[in-house]
Amino acid sequence: MQIISDLEILGHKAHTELEQISNLEQLESWRVGYLGKKSKLISILRSLSKLEIEERIKVGSQANQLKKALELSLENKRNLLEEATIAYSTEQKAIDVTLPGYPISTGRLHPITQMLKNICEIFQNMGFQVVEGPDVEWDHYNFDALNIPQDHPARDMFDTFWIDSNKAGKDARLLRTHTSPMQIRVMEKEQPPIRVIVPGRTYRYEATDATHESMFYQVEGLAVDKNITMTDLKGTLLEFCQLIFGKDRKVRFRCDYFPFVEPGAEVAIECLACHGSGCRLCGYSGWLEILGAGMVHPEVLRRVNIDPDIYSGFAFGLGVERVPMLLSGIEDIRLFYGNDLRFLKQF
Ligand code: PHE
Repeated sequence: MQIISDLEILGHKAHTELEQISNLEQLESWRVGYLGKKSKLISILRSLSKLEIEERIKVGSQANQLKKALELSLENKRNLLEEATIAYSTEQKAIDVTLPGYPISTGRLHPITQMLKNICEIFQNMGFQVVEGPDVEWDHYNFDALNIPQDHPARDMFDTFWIDSNKAGKDARLLRTHTSPMQIRVMEKEQPPIRVIVPGRTYRYEATDATHESMFYQVEGLAVDKNITMTDLKGTLLEFCQLIFGKDRKVRFRCDYFPFVEPGAEVAIECLACHGSGCRLCGYSGWLEILGAGMVHPEVLRRVNIDPDIYSGFAFGLGVERVPMLLSGIEDIRLFYGNDLRFLKQF
């Protein structure tokens, strides 16, 4: 019977095509083509009444079976495609390269590191070499060799963290209280001409407050050569102060005492806030002290076998934190080491 074999071919063709289908749009046109109002199968079912009774029964049951089979296959395929679509879209989300990413917070140099780089660069441009030394130092380098013998009252200028508190004298170690011990270490190794600066951490055993930390940075400077005089010291530090604090900044040198220099000086700059007229920042003096300095003591030179009758030198020591504190109006030194990103990110 023609119609029966037509239905078989139709069924076969429909299933083969269904297998090829890979998305819901294709499935919909497949449904319209095979099960839609105008499809061949539906028109066969509609015209059953025109057939002879016997044929109508055969064709009718065959066509209805096919319709059910196609409807079932359609349903199965639709489920499969829908599941795949959901899986595909979640997978897509996970790798969607067009989504804006999380902002990456880039790090930056700590404000003290930035200042150290700045300071070192200024002195490097003047011909100084940067060297570093140990944070844990021998009593000998920190005190003795710098003309501060055991029991000398000048030791009271430094509150010290001792490491070997049971040992006394040369064998005792401590956290260096200043960067000056590096003057000795450099002069022991090098013959003049010497021009070095030493950035580094220093430690003092003292109660912390807005202007004191038990750990802070210093930059030491040392120049030793023939004919070095106080003029060289003044010129070098004037140039430095004006490069950091502004080229019209007034700089004041006054006598001060440090056992390893003679004469010794204290260097101050005209107050940044009041320009010398006196305010709270400068304690109504008009000046801000920022450096200790002086001419290397002949006795210190002699101890490292440099002849003070031939050579002379100058040295200075700068407290680093004070510089950005003055420049940026930071009122508490502890902010630098509190690790609070809200503070650190401002620099
Ligand atoms: N080392 C001294 C201090 O920490 C500073 C200083 C250095 C003074 C070099 C004179 C020369 O106080």
